[in-house]
Amino acid sequence: MAKNDDNDLKKIVSHAKEYGYVFPSSEIYDGLSATYDYGQYGVELKQNIRQYWWKAMVQMNENIVGIDASIFMHPTTWKASGHVDAFNDPMIDNKDSNKRYRADVLIEDFIAKIEAKIQKEVDKAAKKFGDSFDEAQFKETNPRVLQNQEKIDTINARFKKDIEEEDFVDLKLLIEELGIADPVSGSKNWTEVRQFNLMFSTELGSLADGASKIYLRPETAQGIFVNYLNVQKTGRMKLPFGIAQTGKAFRNEIIARQFIFRMREFEQMEMQFFVKPGTEMEWYQNWKEKRMNWHKSLGLGDQNYKFHDHLNLAHYANAACDIEFNFPMGFKELEGIHSRTDFDLKAHEEFSGKKLQFFDSETEKSYVPYVVETSIGLDRMFLAILATAYTEETLEDGSSRTVLRLPKALAPVKAAVLPLVNKDGLPEKAREILDELKFSVNAQYDGKDAIGRRYRRQDAIGTPYCITVDHQTIEDGTVTIRERDSMEQKRVSVAEVVSEIETAVDLKPLLKSL
Ligand code: GAP
Repeated sequence: MAKNDDNDLKKIVSHAKEYGYVFPSSEIYDGLSATYDYGQYGVELKQNIRQYWWKAMVQMNENIVGIDASIFMHPTTWKASGHVDAFNDPMIDNKDSNKRYRADVLIEDFIAKIEAKIQKEVDKAAKKFGDSFDEAQFKETNPRVLQNQEKIDTINARFKKDIEEEDFVDLKLLIEELGIADPVSGSKNWTEVRQFNLMFSTELGSLADGASKIYLRPETAQGIFVNYLNVQKTGRMKLPFGIAQTGKAFRNEIIARQFIFRMREFEQMEMQFFVKPGTEMEWYQNWKEKRMNWHKSLGLGDQNYKFHDHLNLAHYANAACDIEFNFPMGFKELEGIHSRTDFDLKAHEEFSGKKLQFFDSETEKSYVPYVVETSIGLDRMFLAILATAYTEETLEDGSSRTVLRLPKALAPVKAAVLPLVNKDGLPEKAREILDELKFSVNAQYDGKDAIGRRYRRQDAIGTPYCITVDHQTIEDGTVTIRERDSMEQKRVSVAEVVSEIETAVDLKPLLKSL
């Protein structure tokens, strides 16, 4: 499928709605912007992604345990973490279109366009020189590439300085000097750049009791930090060790767009890995590699991932990068890997007055551990999988089909059992098979419409296998299994069908490949 195309995203959004994956939230009231509901298949896919992450991170690692902390936390948590003071985005409005943008995103998008020009030169030269092409040497010597790279470096240096020094006057100047226009209207008539805090707040208790202001957590990580000592002590954990959790996070995103890519309510899967100070860079590299392997194991295409190092580090990090994925709208952040130093635990020590340290029995010293974090958005992972799986095909006979080529182990429905006709004992036999299958996999019975239409429906849902019960089943106890991607069919005995499906959709081979 061609990438970088908004039409692709539109098709995916409408397919997701038509087939029960994702609905706009409260749609009967015309929806609520940037909030979505997962439908009957979406919830299963989401659950399977979460399960694959959980197994890979928690159950496969002896030194990582999970928790489930509450969304509401003591308000001082967010003062300590820096979110009250520093969880801001620099916003700019276009005076003609009245649209609001993140100033940093406007600049990053501008840089991405120059990067695309460099890539175009590289691709052109690679084609021309074939096997003898040396990409590194080309980038170091080609005048056009060098000129563009210099442009990027200059913009980046000024942008970084502006953000660090909160020099929003110069940030606006930079946008103007680069000639950045509103992507919607093309206008260059901008307001000043202003800071905007992204946390949602609400009140705990009734007003009469003297309610206190609390926040909906903007990341799940703080629930882990405040439980560091509880888990370390009760689990008798030794460094290095990790604490993982999955759960909802909330951000008042100004420009929440692009479907479930950027929402105001979303789900994170985060792991904080506590390490001895001085070893954090080693662990940072280690987790970068491990997380990339996890992504690639799903078979969405190795070329669809790349690392992007942060120039503009968050207030808590001494190194950070994103794993970017080639979404329909281009390469964008899917997961963040951050070396968060001892910033959070130290801040919580200071604000709570409680020691959050580790006693190292080898050196007989106590210290605050350093932390390497892996943080992935479950909804973004869902979009990455759905977008890559969505395929429109023209078949040999000239007909067309839309198929979701989902990783089989993650597909919402693993198999559909279809009686060829609704008589002659075929429905009863089909139900018998379903009743066996449902103990191990999510399977469904589909008896409505002609068989061809049922296959197409299951293709559109992404069901890897259709088991068809026909008259031969009654005679010799065999059924056909049709595979989703190749559409090939084979006959197997009813006695073997359950284990065939179980093996073909098993998560274990993926986990073993990590
Ligand atoms: N604890 C670190 C942290 O929260 P982040 O880079 O702000 O870091 C981590 O967020 C991940 O959460 C991102 O890589 C992205 O996948 C997901 N995420 C962040 N904001 C999101 C939003 N508004 N909608 C959907 N996913 C989001």
